[in-house]
Amino acid sequence: MAQVFPPYANTLARAVLLGAAALGLGGLGLLVALPFTPHVTRQDITIEQPVQFSHEHHAGGLGIDCRYCHTAVEQGRYAGIPPTDTCMTCHSQIWTNAELLAPVRRSLAEGVPLRWQKVHVLPDYVFFDHSVHVNNGVGCSTCHGAINRMPQVRQVAPLTMGWCLDCHRDPAPNLRPASEIFNMEWTPPADQAAQGAALVAHYGIRTEHLTDCSRCHR
Ligand code: HEC
Ligand code: HEC
Ligand code: HEC
Ligand code: HEC
Ligand code: HEC
Repeated sequence: MAQVFPPYANTLARAVLLGAAALGLGGLGLLVALPFTPHVTRQDITIEQPVQFSHEHHAGGLGIDCRYCHTAVEQGRYAGIPPTDTCMTCHSQIWTNAELLAPVRRSLAEGVPLRWQKVHVLPDYVFFDHSVHVNNGVGCSTCHGAINRMPQVRQVAPLTMGWCLDCHRDPAPNLRPASEIFNMEWTPPADQAAQGAALVAHYGIRTEHLTDCSRCHR
């Protein structure tokens, strides 16, 4: 897939943000005044990583399960980013001399973790927990899109409060059976209205407190 922005766009974005910060209140006022355009919500930008790791190749093509690398996603708040050792279970055998993998080999040799840059970032005052969602019928692709087709991860959902609340008010249209949580190609069946209502009951989801402020701001 074509990159949306040329490689220098990140540097440019950073420079613009730094510039805004340096302008102090004036810059801040400008940022606050901007509506939630995709640019402001960080949607669809790609972020330069220490290694050009491709989900399209690993999760899509090779079919490696998300949990092989994001081991904590069903148990805790954070999905987790894999350590260098996880990459080396394969790359000590294959592509051992590839230039693209040089940073991975260096990380292993020097014992210094790779510095993966975050793509999705919620503000500190927002509480989020992966396990609650994944264990209650919300699949990865509902929030992250078709990761298995991304050569570089980008944020597809706005991750604004309004977006969270849309689903918390009425999760039924977005719920899927437990067997489909890791299926990146899942689409709602024709009778999703009935299925969704049944899944709310199945998972025991209680929607009446899902929009309480204290649920997400603790
Ligand atoms: C072989 C290991 C591996 C597999 C398998 C894998 N990932 Fe990842 N994932 C990574 C690495 C490494 C990163 C950090 C670099 C990046 O963002 O591309 C990452 C990043 C991500 C991110 C962005 C995290 C952030 O910074 O916000 C998401 C979302 C994600 N993966 C979802 C998935 C999903 C969904 C699957 C299954 C379809 C999956 N991953 C399979 C290794 C893996
Ligand atoms: C289960 C085995 C396996 C694991 C685990 C794995 N890889 Fe790979 N990786 C492969 C294979 C096989 C290829 C060749 C893919 C191809 O050509 O389609 C590859 C290719 C690559 C490439 C070359 C570019 C590309 O995508 O084709 C890079 C870079 C890479 N892997 C990085 C990583 C990193 C970083 C990790 C750890 C987060 C990792 N790999 C974990 C099997 C693995
Ligand atoms: C309800 C929406 C939602 C679902 C479902 C979801 N995620 Fe996330 N994910 C997020 C948000 C929001 C963040 C940013 C969290 C933060 O900044 O604290 C995130 C961050 C991540 C990260 C990077 C940070 C971390 O948590 O370690 C990875 C990796 C990730 N998700 C993988 C996955 C995988 C794999 C699945 C499916 C098994 C999944 N996510 C399901 C919303 C979701
Ligand atoms: C597509 C639907 C969907 C989206 C999007 C979504 N959620 Fe949820 N959320 C749920 C469901 C379903 C539950 C489980 C309700 C239950 O506990 O029965 C839940 C539960 C929670 C809980 C309760 C955890 C607990 O331990 O009490 C928190 C906190 C939460 N979500 C935060 C968020 C935040 C923050 C966002 C946006 C970044 C978000 N959610 C986006 C569907 C969603
Ligand atoms: C389902 C999760 C969720 C619930 C429930 C929730 N919020 Fe939020 N809230 C968020 C997220 C995510 C953000 C950060 C993204 C954004 O600013 O849109 C946020 C941001 C905010 C902000 C900062 C807005 C800004 O523009 O900087 C305020 C203030 C706030 N929430 C107040 C509330 C109040 C009051 C309630 C109850 C009526 C509430 N929230 C309920 C998820 C939630």
